[in-house]
Amino acid sequence: MNCRYYIPMLNLVGRGSVKEIGREARILHGTTAFIVASKGDVGEAQAKQISDILKAEGLDTQLFCEAVPNPTVATVEKGLEAYLGGRGDIIAAVGGGSAIDTAKAIGLLASNGGNIKDYEGINKTAHAMPPLIAISTTAGTGSEVTQFAVITDERDHSKFTIVDWHMTPNVSVNDPEMMMSMPPSLTAATGMDALTHAVEAYVSKSATPVTDAKAYKAVELAARGLRKAVLEGDNIDAREDMCYASFLAGTAFNNAGLGLTHAMAHPLGGMYNLPHGLCNALLLQHVVKFNLNSAQDKYSALSIAAGEGKIWHSERENSESFTRFIANLTRSIGIPSGMSEVGVMMKDLETLANEAMEEMIGNTNPRPYSAHQVLEIYRAAF
Ligand SMILES: [Fe+2]
Repeated sequence: MNCRYYIPMLNLVGRGSVKEIGREARILHGTTAFIVASKGDVGEAQAKQISDILKAEGLDTQLFCEAVPNPTVATVEKGLEAYLGGRGDIIAAVGGGSAIDTAKAIGLLASNGGNIKDYEGINKTAHAMPPLIAISTTAGTGSEVTQFAVITDERDHSKFTIVDWHMTPNVSVNDPEMMMSMPPSLTAATGMDALTHAVEAYVSKSATPVTDAKAYKAVELAARGLRKAVLEGDNIDAREDMCYASFLAGTAFNNAGLGLTHAMAHPLGGMYNLPHGLCNALLLQHVVKFNLNSAQDKYSALSIAAGEGKIWHSERENSESFTRFIANLTRSIGIPSGMSEVGVMMKDLETLANEAMEEMIGNTNPRPYSAHQVLEIYRAAF
């Protein structure tokens, strides 16, 4: 078994680590930082905080606070125009996956030209992008450590995935102090995204001993920290557990890939404009049940990592207890019990199933699947 392991050159995790980015920006020869953040008061405050840190180190800054959930082609093009109109020579992204994916797409186009949809697929760029410092504020997306960006084509609400080594950030930051004010519903959804990354990477057909080590520990930490981070938002130990869980899960799926939960979550999020983490949370337990017999040994190990399984139980007992663990966790952190509760309509399930079949991200799922089986899983999660 061969292993290719991509990861940012520098990864800062822990309390106060965001304060170190000024020095790192200097080492990367940045003079003007183009800061990408989310639209709205929270995004603007985060952009200002990053701007202040960078200015203290002598950099100029330019703010682009326009990133939207499920980032669109139009937002990327607007950001590119702003970037090319300024003097930016380094990009700093602050926020969740939306802001970081937007920044990746802007940087990719700034160096390579063309339309962002041209880069759908794997390693289509010819040139490296400007240096990117990615600061996560949500402990879930993993985008700060990955070579992936998911962009929504607003014309037909479809999502497309860009996988490109050149998009791997130079520096990732996971600082729990940046996450203390995250509301419970967002903490729950993004935390379930991190857990889904870890679970799917661990059972992936492309998993290696390296990714297994990361994913296993991520599940252990998410099982310990997620419920507390949701119910006690000011518990910095729990927030730090989720920082490490998210970081580790991100490095695992960046190299092992994902699976059917994500393949089904993407069209769901695209069609209804639902948060990505929520879509995964609604689907994960049902996909695990579908996959159970194809990766029983691995789900059994994860059940032990989560503190649910017992080493003296059989693999079957432990793998089944892992599905119960996910269901109980999901319920206890306030995730809706089914897709119908968030406005999904039964008449759309067949379209969703057909779109999920087109998602290459499902190629590493441990069990092959048909459109009919995917439809049955959507129905179970309804
Ligand atoms: Fe995800």
